Order: sequence, then C-alpha cells, then structure tokens
Amino acid sequence: MISESRWWKEGVIYQIYPRSFKDTTGDGIGDLNGIVQKLDYLADLCVDAIWLSPVYTSPDVDFGYDVSSYRDIDPKFGTMKDFRKLVNEAGKRGIRIVMDLVLNHSSDQHAWFRESRSSRDNPKRDYYIWKDAKRRGGPPNNWQSVFGGSAWEWDDSTKQYYLHMFYKEQPDLNWRNPDVRQDLLDIFKFWLDIGVSGFRLDVFNLYIKDKKFRDNPAKLLGLRPFERQIHKYDCDRPELMGVLEDIRKVLDAYPGTYAVGETFLSDHEKSASYCGDRLLQQTFNFDFLECAWNSGCFASEVEEWEQALGEEKWPNYVLNNHDVERAASRYGIGEDDERLKVAAGLLLTLRGTPFLYYGEEIGMREVSLKRNQIKDPVGRRYWPFYKGRDGCRTPMQWTTKQNAGFSDSDPWLPIHPDYADRNVETQTEKPQSLLNFYRQVLALRREVPALSCGEMKFIGDLPGGVMGYERACENSRAVVLLNFRKTEAECRISDEKKMYLKTLSSKDGLYVKQNLSSVLLKGDEAIVLTTTE
Ligand code: GLC
Repeated sequence: MISESRWWKEGVIYQIYPRSFKDTTGDGIGDLNGIVQKLDYLADLCVDAIWLSPVYTSPDVDFGYDVSSYRDIDPKFGTMKDFRKLVNEAGKRGIRIVMDLVLNHSSDQHAWFRESRSSRDNPKRDYYIWKDAKRRGGPPNNWQSVFGGSAWEWDDSTKQYYLHMFYKEQPDLNWRNPDVRQDLLDIFKFWLDIGVSGFRLDVFNLYIKDKKFRDNPAKLLGLRPFERQIHKYDCDRPELMGVLEDIRKVLDAYPGTYAVGETFLSDHEKSASYCGDRLLQQTFNFDFLECAWNSGCFASEVEEWEQALGEEKWPNYVLNNHDVERAASRYGIGEDDERLKVAAGLLLTLRGTPFLYYGEEIGMREVSLKRNQIKDPVGRRYWPFYKGRDGCRTPMQWTTKQNAGFSDSDPWLPIHPDYADRNVETQTEKPQSLLNFYRQVLALRREVPALSCGEMKFIGDLPGGVMGYERACENSRAVVLLNFRKTEAECRISDEKKMYLKTLSSKDGLYVKQNLSSVLLKGDEAIVLTTTE
C-alpha cells in the first residue's frame, strides 16, 4: 500500500458507477457485493482507490445524485453490513474507498425537505432556500436550473419558491445556516468513522449562493438559457472558502483522508484556488474531456493546469466519467483501440492523479439508445438534441456470457452489442489488448517512482503530432513519447545514448535494456522508457 499521506497523489483512482458494475442479486442493478466480487480484478489492475458514485438511499430521479438519507445504503445496493465488508475487503487489498458526497442539494424525499416544505414556521424551513415571489409575481430572480427551466419551484401550500439548481426533486441545501452546515459536516465524520478514505464533492462550488440573490448577468452565446448567463451569483461565491476550511478541519482529524471537488463551470485559476493546505486537496480538471485528438491540445491543457496549480498543488486528469460521452467513442476509430492506448499512456504517466472510469480499460463504447430506452431525465427532456448520460453508464462487460456476465437477468440499461468481443475475459487472453496495455502501464507506474511522483518536463523539438515528456525523481527517470498521428516519427530524446532498463510500447510490448538516444515511433504508438541511474 502507498504511504498514508501520499496515496491520492501517487495512486490511481477508479470510478465505479455501482448500478452498472456487477449484479449479484439478479435484479439487473449492480450492487456492493458485486464490487466485492471484483476487488481482485481491481487489485490486479493496480488500482489504489475506488470512487463510488452515490450508494445512499435515493428515489433515483438523478440516479443517486438525489439523496434521501445520507447515512444509509440504498437497499438496491445492499446493506450497511455489505458496505463495511466492502471497505474491509478493499482495505485488505490496499484499495481505499472514496465516497461521492452530494451536498449541494438533497432529494425532495429527504426528511429535512419534507419538514421544510410542511410549513413556513417548521424548524427545518431554513434548511433549504425559500423565497417569496417577486412583487408582481414570478420567480425571485433569473437563475436557471442546470437541467433546464427556472431554478425556482413554486410550492403552492406554503406560497413560496424553493431553489433547485438541478431537477426540482433536488432542492438546494442552505449552507449559510450554521445548523445545516454542522449536520452536513457530521456526514463526513459518519463515513470517516466507518473507514472511508476520502470524498468526491459533487458540484461543491454551488454550495453558497449570493446573499442578495441578484440576477445573473446575461451572456450572448449559448444554446440553452442556462448557458446564456454568466454564473456570477449562483456559483463560486467568496464565502465558499469558509465552508472548504470547515470541511478540511474535519478531514484533518482523520490523517491521510482526502477530498476532490467537482468544480462546476470554473476556469483553471478558479479551480486551483480551491486547493491548498487548508482547503481541498484537489479539484477536478475536466479539460481533456473537450480536447480534440491533437497533441497540441492535450499539451497546452497540461501546461495551463500545471501553471494554475503551481508546484505545490497536485494535478489530476480524467478522460471519462458518468456525465460525458465515453472517450472510446470520442477517440476510438471503429473497433480499433490503438489511439486509446495512446490516451491511456498519457493519462497514466502525466504528473498528477489519474482517474479511471469503469470499462475505460476495455475501451467500452457509448451505447446508442432509442428514445424509449432513455432513463436519464435530462435526455428525455432534450431528446433528440441531447440524449442524456445513459450511453456512458451501461453495464460493465465482463465475459462473453449472457448479459456480458454483469447480471443473470435483464440489466437496467442495455449492454453494448459489441460485448461478445469486448469484455474483460476476452481481452485478458489477448496480449495486445487495451486491457493488457492498461495493466502493463499501471504495473510500471507502481514499479518506477518517477512515473507516479516525479517532476515533469516537456521534451522540445519533437516531430509534429508527438507529445513527449520526462519524469524524474531521485534516481528514477522515465521518458514518455506519444504519437497522435498515423505516420512514423523519429524522436531524438537525448544527445547521447542512455540505458533504459524497461521500455513499454503499445505496439510491441515490453523490452528490457536498451541503449538509445532516439526512438522511431510508429503511428498511434505510445512508448514509456524507464531507467534507474
Ligand atoms: C454532478 C454529477 C451529475 C449530477 C449533478 C447533480 O454534476 O456528476 O451526475 O447529475 O451533479 O447532482
């Protein structure tokens, strides 16, 4: 196991969308025991922590991101006993658990909201954000819900509006109320006491809203009304810093624990400003999700993120998550996975924590769904312009068997028709598979300290379409070369020949001991050269 304090820097975090990982009860929905069953697979892959998308009790309007009880496991996923078993069994394999905390809003079925909406003078009224209509009627301001429509919902029985930045079934909690804040901080403690090692904080930079609830200024360009606003007053408010400090104080009482925030809409500088010794350890950088397949685009995103964070703060990188089209569909060409190996070579060797998303390691493609198969409400609302997020949330493809070995019965979302060829079992047997490349790079990362904790320097003067960098710490060094084009490229990496002990190529596998000053990269090839001086 990696050292207590550095695990989130040196380690690799694997996101599981529990509904879709492994079903052991035969209801077509993945569960905690399914994850326990697959821990050996994850340990073998060299994963250091699992980020679990929400498993709390939820009516599933937003599939777990609408929590009705923060201290319970939803029965469809198992029990608290199962959860403890997961923490315990994962721990035995050196794998930590990172919970997804959804604290900007709760479900409208949460006991707090039921009370809050029951009357204006209920003690929990101020747990949420209630406002009168404007004098001439209508919502209190122009704020929009991320998922469409006004962010304010009228409650006819108490004659006020409540705020919901997402669905109306996800009312926003009032973090300015000290009782709410204390109750929410206690939720961190509850899970830390059970033994989790960290949290992913869902849309944390929306926690605090403008005190005066001023209208957001308009923006000219944007498809939906939400995008045609500058989110000056509903997002990134200065008082948020105090909340982050409070969260950090809780974490610091549990040595080695960690939080990564999902910064919503913010630029590099803003995101970086939320990280620090008294703030969060990390915020996400989602830039790769928007990169065209182009070495320059990836390189400049890395440079900008590094610059915003400076030397002290530690970056992270993401190619996939449960909200975006899968990278394999963005970058893969047909069934060919060669580019995905280059992408993996990049993600797993940059200076920064790599986040993987289940199925990425076998190149799972986006499933294209028909209107009547869509489950994500945002997809139903905007069909056919936007089909929602179900396509990247389909069941994990384990074997060639029925339902891809995910479940004995019909899964909650369809399985990709390519599962007969694209699954863990089949790829394990093929030495050249994407899965085996992920395994090899991840194993090398564990073996060569430069790859996990080394400083990073770009290599200049490389041919067009090639990205290259060196990583170094103490007597461990690595050189990474990534060819984003289909043509061969001769890369000079040093003025004199140097001995590389292990070289991993996405095309040719592993070599030992090579004396090199330059490398001939094939098209779509990723190479990692490592040495110890
Ligand atoms: C985050 C989650 C997304 C969810 C939303 C509301 O962006 O990643 O899945 O719908 O917050 O909780």
